[in-house]
Amino acid sequence: MGGYLGSGLRERLLQERAPPGNRMTPTHRQQAAQVVIGLETSCDETAAAVVRREPDGAVEVLSSVIASQVAAHAPFGGVVPEIAARAHVESIDGIAAAALAEAAVGFAELTGIAATAGPGLVGGVMVGLSFGKAIALARGLPLVAVNHLEGHAVSARLAAQVDYPFLLLLVSGGHCQLLAVEGVGACRRLGSTIDDAAGEAFDKIAKTLGLPYPGGPALEALAATGDPARFTLPRMLLGRKDCDFSFSGLKTAAARIAEGLKSDTERADLAAAVQAAIAAQLAERSDRAMASYASTHPGQGLRFVVAGGVAANRAVRERLQAVAEARRFSFTAPPLAYCTDNAAMIALAGAERLALGISDPLDAPARPRWPLDEAAASASPTHVPGRKGAKA
Ligand code: KG4
Ligand code: ZN
Repeated sequence: MGGYLGSGLRERLLQERAPPGNRMTPTHRQQAAQVVIGLETSCDETAAAVVRREPDGAVEVLSSVIASQVAAHAPFGGVVPEIAARAHVESIDGIAAAALAEAAVGFAELTGIAATAGPGLVGGVMVGLSFGKAIALARGLPLVAVNHLEGHAVSARLAAQVDYPFLLLLVSGGHCQLLAVEGVGACRRLGSTIDDAAGEAFDKIAKTLGLPYPGGPALEALAATGDPARFTLPRMLLGRKDCDFSFSGLKTAAARIAEGLKSDTERADLAAAVQAAIAAQLAERSDRAMASYASTHPGQGLRFVVAGGVAANRAVRERLQAVAEARRFSFTAPPLAYCTDNAAMIALAGAERLALGISDPLDAPARPRWPLDEAAASASPTHVPGRKGAKA
């Protein structure tokens, strides 16, 4: 564990005097502003951020530093877990020190540590979580072992006021699900993918089109010049009466078409058709979930939030916004920087828990699989595990 604390942070830990965290009672902590450092190492980004959350819920991101490992994984066309874990070990100390420096916050001003504890690649998760535990122990600060998905769930709250409850579409590389988020840590799953996640579909289809990893943004760029009407792709599960997703048929169909493509124009057309098909399915399933959510939340404000890496896609956002408006839901998507993995969302998820007096013991485990709605996930074993843990 000590190896993760490089000389920069170790010196600061030793130099700064007794942490105020030791002198504060839990009740004091809840009533004061939370100043939390978040640590994110569950996949291929090493990230640290400092977030300040006032007792009235106002949020300020004081810093958000992200070191992407894209260049290290690109030659392999996807994330290599061993390379990811080693890269996290090498950079977590510098990234955390940079986040504190950019925020102009010292350890003495922190009120808590929030580290992603899963779901994700366990080697990477253990790096950030162990690092967070070391700081918590050294400074006598409370630790929150954050569910990465809870981070995505609160990400829209980093830049806009979105009260609980809300309906959430979580679409990333490892997850694709619709959730009723009733409050902190209280999620009810309305539907999820029965095969691939939406981001995974973007990435795999991008690969068959010869686009570099990560495929989602590259496919969006190629689709910009394409005609979505040239190729007909299957509209999976369209009209089905649940809120589940499926992308494997789309992937197979796109791969078959991609084999016969001769020009860049055709490739752009296929990219546009794929993007439109994914956006259409996300919109159709969300529309169904909105109808269900509205019936279980009568007389309450209807709020729809999209989060996760795929929420960065413009076509996806536009389709979802149109559906939300038609259903009279407010629509919120995080700023692009908070759609893909970042530590500000982890810090905020931690701060919200700390404000309620919730923290975790220092032996909190790393959890490669950790569904938000555990009851629904275990009752529905058809939802397969993905590269970043169970997709349900
Ligand atoms: O949330 P995220 O950074 O990591 C996970 O927790 O999975 O999401 C990454 C996923 C990748 O599959 C990536 O291709 C996709 O989000 N993505 C996009 C776009 N930006 C990121 N997909 C479509 N269009 C984009 N602009
Ligand atoms: Zn993520």
